[in-house]
Amino acid sequence: MRRGLFITIEGPDGSGKSTQIQEITEFFRKRGEPVIVTREPGGTPISEKIREIILDRNHREMDPVTETLLYAASRAQHVAEVIRPALEDGSHVVCDRFIDSSIAYQGYGRGLGDCVSIINAYAVRDCVPDLTFLMKLDPGIGKSRIKKEEQDRIEMENAEFHERVFQGYEELELQFPDRIVGIDAGREVEAIREEILQRIERLLQR
Ligand code: TYD
Repeated sequence: MRRGLFITIEGPDGSGKSTQIQEITEFFRKRGEPVIVTREPGGTPISEKIREIILDRNHREMDPVTETLLYAASRAQHVAEVIRPALEDGSHVVCDRFIDSSIAYQGYGRGLGDCVSIINAYAVRDCVPDLTFLMKLDPGIGKSRIKKEEQDRIEMENAEFHERVFQGYEELELQFPDRIVGIDAGREVEAIREEILQRIERLLQR
């Protein structure tokens, strides 16, 4: 059986990931191909519990290393329980955030550097996305779209943190040009959708 495609969507908070995830899912459904949509941190009962611990606004004292390990633990369970079995079963998987989020937020945002990639390589093993869309939007604009009282512990971080995260994403885009596709997320939803679906079609033809 042919393995499904593993597609991830990345970018700052409020950059319009959810809308495009719906469009991608719809695209596969119209083709009559099985697809599952999932998210990080989360995607399994255990991972959703870990998500609650990570994002709890009261956990102000959480150490950056603890945070990194919790994201990686949540991811390891998600890969083992959901992502890998689905791909092996021939289903496509569309995931809202994945390993690049940890490298951008914990590696660059928190300043932990290379250890984040090493920890996560162990968590995901060979389960790496085939294609990653990076929604590029000024992090300040993204943040202004989220109400203050709805911001989680990470979204509450200051502007400098979110700037470093964005720089991290840009570095990743340069480092993995074959996998990561930068998308100008400041445009109309329809234009973004067209560009994303064209890239997926190209990959399917290969
Ligand atoms: P997300 O689910 O995208 O937030 P929301 O549902 O509120 O839009 O992600 C939650 C937060 O976790 C987000 O600010 C990004 C952050 N994050 C990391 O810092 N590292 C990671 O590895 C992941 C997956 C997310």
